[in-house]
Amino acid sequence: MTTGPQSLAHDDSAAGFYACGAGDQLFSDAHFPPAINAFLHSERMLLAVAARSRQVIVEIGCHEGTHAGWCRAAGKRYLGIDPVERYIQRGRARLAEADQQRCTLVVGRAEQVDELIARELAGIAPSDILLFIPFNCFGNITEVESAVRSIARSGCALLLSSYQTTPAALLARFAYYAACGYNPLTLSRDERGELFHDALGLHTYAYHPGWLSALFARFGMSVQAVQHAEIGQAFVTPELEVALCEQVRR
Ligand SMILES: C[S@@+](CC[C@H](N)C(=O)[O-])C[C@H]1O[C@@H](n2cnc3c(N)ncnc32)[C@H](O)[C@@H]1O
Repeated sequence: MTTGPQSLAHDDSAAGFYACGAGDQLFSDAHFPPAINAFLHSERMLLAVAARSRQVIVEIGCHEGTHAGWCRAAGKRYLGIDPVERYIQRGRARLAEADQQRCTLVVGRAEQVDELIARELAGIAPSDILLFIPFNCFGNITEVESAVRSIARSGCALLLSSYQTTPAALLARFAYYAACGYNPLTLSRDERGELFHDALGLHTYAYHPGWLSALFARFGMSVQAVQHAEIGQAFVTPELEVALCEQVRR
């Protein structure tokens, strides 16, 4: 059996692209153009505001537990979910013993988030939980309807951070993915939004706000688009909207 990026090039799940190592480049800050750095800074500010009234943060697409340290410092319980076992194992190895009671990292997908919450956070009310989907993880999910169904079933507040579908965002994304070495990069545009993909399995959408809000509405969930930084677009549940709009106006 072969195990390099080529062997998983035909695995059509985003998890396969990350599991085989082809996606690792996306996490190196050496590849972030200034607009992506500004987007990530803004995303952290939004998290700090959205987390104020929640005891528990569930980070979906957490890589190695990206926001576990911030959550611990803020006194929050943290559940990180990622489909790539290698990322979860590295993240667990980095957690100090004292953090292990407050921070849990599990292998899983956005498509199962309601089940994972029931298993890992039994007894905690959905009203105490914030679902946080950072850095356009959502745009990487191929089973997007299943993910929205599971998010809606959870009954939790949502902060989903993605990109705008504007020329500025498109250019910043192109520069970022090209710096990661994805070549040739293909851009496809449809009614959903703007998708960059390549031969190794890169598959990353920025969704049009109308399309994504309508998808959530089909599963009984209301989300509003909130633009942040020059290129960011968050999708948030109504109870978070006012506070996050105030934050982005600053
Ligand atoms: C944070 S996103 C990075 C996306 C990139 N910054 C972009 O612009 O498209 C990638 C993370 O999402 C995770 N991921 C991929 N598919 C997923 C899924 N179905 N559910 C949860 N996480 C997923 C990956 O394993 C990886 O850690």
